[in-house]
Amino acid sequence: MNTLHYGVDAEGIATVTLDAAGKPMNVVSPEFIAQFSAAVDKAARDSSVRGIIVTSAKPAFMAGADLKHMLGMMQAGLTERDAYVFSQTAQRMHRQLETCGKPVVAALNGLALGGGYELALACHYRVIVDDPKAIVGLPEVTVGLLPGSGGTQRMPRLIGLDEALAVMLDGKTPAPAEALRLGMVDAVVSPAELLPTARAWILGSPDAVRPWDRKGYRAGRGLLDPAIASTMAARTAAIASRTQHNDPAPITILSAVFEGSVLPIDKALALESKLFARLLAGPVARNLIRTSFVHKNEAAKLARRPEGVPGRSYRKVGVLGAGMMGSGIACVAAQAGLDVVLLDSSIDLARNGKAYSAKVLDKAVGRGQRTREQADTVLGRIVATTDYALLQDCDLVVEAVFENTDIKADVTRRAEAVLPQQAIFASNTSTLPISRLAQASVRPDRFIGLHFFSPVDRMPLVEVIVGERTSDRTLAEAMDFVARLRMIPIGVNDSRGFYTSRVFQTFIHEGMKLLEDGVEPALVENAAKQSGLPVGPLALIDETTLELPWKIVQEAIAAEGDGYRKPCSYEVMRRMIEEFERPGRKYGKGFYEYRDGRREGFWAGLSAAFPPAERQPTIDEVRKRLLYIQALETARCLEEGVLRHPADGDIGALLGWGFPAWTGGTLSLIETIGLSRFVDECEAMAATLGPRFVPPGGLKDRARSGRHFYA
Ligand code: NAI
Repeated sequence: MNTLHYGVDAEGIATVTLDAAGKPMNVVSPEFIAQFSAAVDKAARDSSVRGIIVTSAKPAFMAGADLKHMLGMMQAGLTERDAYVFSQTAQRMHRQLETCGKPVVAALNGLALGGGYELALACHYRVIVDDPKAIVGLPEVTVGLLPGSGGTQRMPRLIGLDEALAVMLDGKTPAPAEALRLGMVDAVVSPAELLPTARAWILGSPDAVRPWDRKGYRAGRGLLDPAIASTMAARTAAIASRTQHNDPAPITILSAVFEGSVLPIDKALALESKLFARLLAGPVARNLIRTSFVHKNEAAKLARRPEGVPGRSYRKVGVLGAGMMGSGIACVAAQAGLDVVLLDSSIDLARNGKAYSAKVLDKAVGRGQRTREQADTVLGRIVATTDYALLQDCDLVVEAVFENTDIKADVTRRAEAVLPQQAIFASNTSTLPISRLAQASVRPDRFIGLHFFSPVDRMPLVEVIVGERTSDRTLAEAMDFVARLRMIPIGVNDSRGFYTSRVFQTFIHEGMKLLEDGVEPALVENAAKQSGLPVGPLALIDETTLELPWKIVQEAIAAEGDGYRKPCSYEVMRRMIEEFERPGRKYGKGFYEYRDGRREGFWAGLSAAFPPAERQPTIDEVRKRLLYIQALETARCLEEGVLRHPADGDIGALLGWGFPAWTGGTLSLIETIGLSRFVDECEAMAATLGPRFVPPGGLKDRARSGRHFYA
């Protein structure tokens, strides 16, 4: 495959134009490296060439590595040695470029990220177009990697150690003006001036030797330099508190920059390759790339939409119930360009729901993200009403009224009476089985669950819940709707709590059970935070109150009778609600004390209510209980067919309830630990903690046969 064009003009300026055949974007690939090296070699040997311009024929200069290709290598069992060779190959090309003896300019006609910006860094001069989309940077940290093609060495040598760390550790991708200020590029010009500027620079006969290749270049002094010593100390502490040592990428970037700064360039680059290889061959980068990028993108593009169903477009939707969820759903739908009928039982309630969108849009205007006219247009799409007749030409309706079967049945009947035959009726219920709600519908094949998360305009996930009678066509078209909202659907089969709530419940129950087992509450909370969960389970329960999990349990007991296995924290919940009357923050009383709505410390009576044991477990034991219980429940969901694909389980965990990204999700966590080891550990835990830790049969089979969740 051709990846570039090469030409030399009458003035002896060679131009290498990156142009990957048949691809929308130039990426670093083995073909590219071979062809680029050959082009540089040709220019170097050609005595008529006085300098080289590297530019691109695509709208972007070059994105980094192809993440999907990288994931393929990782899943095929890439070793640290392979990863080192992979990094060194690109580094050799860059080194060849900067030492070719002729001046080289990167003429950046568009964005240059990751490997693309590293190529620009290997040029002697960087000129970029004045276009806000032409961002530059080394965002590898966001996928658990470090820039492994010289970025950690050239950028600090060019712009300074602290500045380079700030850019790399935050994965910053500044637009041209900021990039110029930071020294990441040397000139910003209009598109028409890009190539003339590059040419003029070469014709000025600049020095084609990098500062670090000049005789007498002095490397940094490392810790002997007090400014560097203090930067290192501050950054190390900040990274430890941010990552809790779960994601090795930031601290490895710091090592690469710091240790490399005292070395001659070739040794520094070899060090970078070594550290890069460690990350690339490790599990965290694979987890981040797989779930947070590759699988998330595939889900957003509806990779698991039922096949053979023509795509459906949407123009107008109805939202029943203008409360917290309904008003959020109306807002995202209007922002996606849909007309919205927002209905509630009184006009004031409906208008109140619309006012939520007005507030969101005002904020966007305030931040300069929208003009006033645009905001007015969006708001104008929402009609607040009590009149069902307005639903008559809606393509889909989402019901978000009170969580009550009879009320939901009533609004279903009233809406279906006026909706077109082909409209979809979706319920946003969080706990009621879809198949049961569908009993109120005259066309249950068009009835589905669309479980949005709160706040809707900030949570991109939607669980699409398939009831017993929901058709594949309805599932496919409901996914089209979610994609139209620019949100991410995961397909889930009907089950108590569906997928996300079901697994998430195990986390909060385990948190409370730990308390009952005599574990210090601070240890429970810290273990969760150290795992990378945003808050501890006890604080979280206080936020959402115990009422909801308690109600879910009571309903399950009513529905399933003796067949229902009460959650392990049943007694803690019962006592907190009935005995101590401390259901959560909303009431100013929970596991914590609250003053004026602010969390203070733990409730003073907590240790009398749940006395701490003499012997406390290690933080690792607590952490395992909190994480493993969720992974086990996800494995059960997969086995029972609640989940249709492992990727949906992992995406749902990250986006649905904030399971730590470094794990790649609940199933990827099992793979990270190792299937056999995970099963063994769970069996040992089950022996002391109870049957909830018994691994399901399918997981044991997988472990025995080494069958991973992802091929
Ligand atoms: P909410 O209480 O804020 O809003 C419910 C709205 O429905 C109210 O405005 C109410 O006036 C209206 N309503 C009630 N009966 C009605 C009727 N017969 N006709 C028209 N409107 C009626 O409740 P929220 O939190 O928005 O929840 C709505 C649904 O979404 C529930 O099924 C809930 O389980 C579900 N859900 C809630 C989430 C949350 O975080 N709050 C998350 C996901 C789903």
